[in-house]
Amino acid sequence: MGNVASAMSMSLDGFVTGPNDGRKHPLGEGGAVLHDWLGKTATDADRAVLQEMVDGAGTILMGRRSYDSCVGEGGWGDGGPAGDVPCFVLTHEPPAEAPKVFTFVTDGIESAVAQAKAAAGDRTVGIHGATAAQQALAAGLLDEIQVHLVPVLLGDGVRLFDLLGASPVNLTRDRVVEAGSGVTHLRFRVVR
Ligand SMILES: NC(=O)c1ccc[n+]([C@@H]2O[C@H](COP(=O)([O-])OP(=O)(O)OC[C@H]3O[C@@H](n4cnc5c(N)ncnc54)[C@H](OP(=O)(O)O)[C@@H]3O)[C@@H](O)[C@H]2O)c1
Repeated sequence: MGNVASAMSMSLDGFVTGPNDGRKHPLGEGGAVLHDWLGKTATDADRAVLQEMVDGAGTILMGRRSYDSCVGEGGWGDGGPAGDVPCFVLTHEPPAEAPKVFTFVTDGIESAVAQAKAAAGDRTVGIHGATAAQQALAAGLLDEIQVHLVPVLLGDGVRLFDLLGASPVNLTRDRVVEAGSGVTHLRFRVVR
């Protein structure tokens, strides 16, 4: 079975969006800078990190807020965040219609990870969205955390690690890429 890895761009003060994220500003007000390394300011090192994620992606798992921010016209178009890579979306109420790459999961994180892993085979399940990632971590289902650390302080928004409580989660850092764009790509294994 493949790896289950969260992969998100984060500000130095721990936010994966600026304030008021949603359809108008998927990364919140002022938060678009978090994804500049994917295009606007990308260096060869940034592109290599991105390519590795694209090549390894078997499925993507996200929460409903991430889905609502970018689905359809003006966002991902007819596909998902990685084109036709299958995506699993945690939600309490599936939408009436959705592009065919999306499967909606209403029976919790364990079920969502199991379905995403089965569909990914030997490839990676990439978890997007802070809520989904923290649930997977708390349930002992996350193998790896990738943080693309962006040199900005956003001050407000959605925090990547806000719901975990006081129990320490031990990590082993296994890669650091200083991309030259100012972004530091960090990769950690979760110690179980
Ligand atoms: N910086 C980055 O690299 C990056 C990457 C990905 C996403 N993002 C941003 O992150 C933001 C969203 O993150 P988020 O953490 O606020 O939300 P999220 O994880 O995307 O979605 C949370 C929502 O998913 C549903 N959900 C979550 N767990 C569930 C469960 N166990 N059972 C049923 N439904 C469940 C609930 O929606 P319902 O109750 O409405 O169904 C919940 O409100 C978006 O703005 C997105 O653009 C940033």
